[in-house]
Amino acid sequence: MNTLTKLVLGMMGQLRAKPAKGNAATSILLPPPEIHGGLPLMDALAVRHSSRDFSPNPLSMQLLSNLLWAADGINRKDGGRTAPSALNAQEIDVFLALPSGAYRYDAAVNELHLVAASDLRRITGYQDFVDEAPLDLVYVADYTRMHLVPVGQRESYAAVAAGAIAQNVYLFAASNGLATVIRAWIDRAAIADALGLTHDQQVLLSQTVGYTRTMT
Ligand SMILES: Cc1cc2nc3c(=O)[nH]c(=O)nc-3n(C[C@H](O)[C@H](O)[C@H](O)COP(=O)(O)O)c2cc1C
Repeated sequence: MNTLTKLVLGMMGQLRAKPAKGNAATSILLPPPEIHGGLPLMDALAVRHSSRDFSPNPLSMQLLSNLLWAADGINRKDGGRTAPSALNAQEIDVFLALPSGAYRYDAAVNELHLVAASDLRRITGYQDFVDEAPLDLVYVADYTRMHLVPVGQRESYAAVAAGAIAQNVYLFAASNGLATVIRAWIDRAAIADALGLTHDQQVLLSQTVGYTRTMT
């Protein structure tokens, strides 16, 4: 769907999800993430960039597991994550809009939990490529976890934490020859509605990940 149509439908509150492809499993146990290898950090930084040219080819479950671990997985015995958060509040949830449904990443058990049994990709942004790329991530702050952070600083701190996750995804993509782009041009209310978020949760950013069309 092109951007203009999305904007018009969005303004009318008529931008609808597509039916999920296949049966949306209520939970998906991911394979253990492969946490070694990849490009050396400086090489990954040297090729990090935004891309808006995606093929619809799906990402394998192994790649998805690796990607999510890099994004905000648990990397220490005490439950610490690959991305920082103020006072270790770990307030950002990573949601996934996949063709088979929308899921929340549960880093503690390396599982995806179903939140909507429909294809929400087109709702995650106004740009046309989000509809067909295999994965749109959505970063959501849960302010109930930030009670130790002064109220006036919660939103900016959560945005910083989401930005750190986004950069982890950029570096993972650079290391694995994937395309990605972080996106703030999104309809936060529509995404919140589609994901069934509460008033304590706020959609911050979305990020598309996939293979570039020219690679397939
Ligand atoms: C906070 C933020 C919001 C952004 N929002 C969008 C967006 O909505 N759509 C998009 O295509 N790119 C978006 N971008 C990506 C920038 O356009 C991109 O990072 C910039 O052009 C520099 O290109 P590079 O990432 O390849 O270095 C955003 C980047 C940031 C940091």
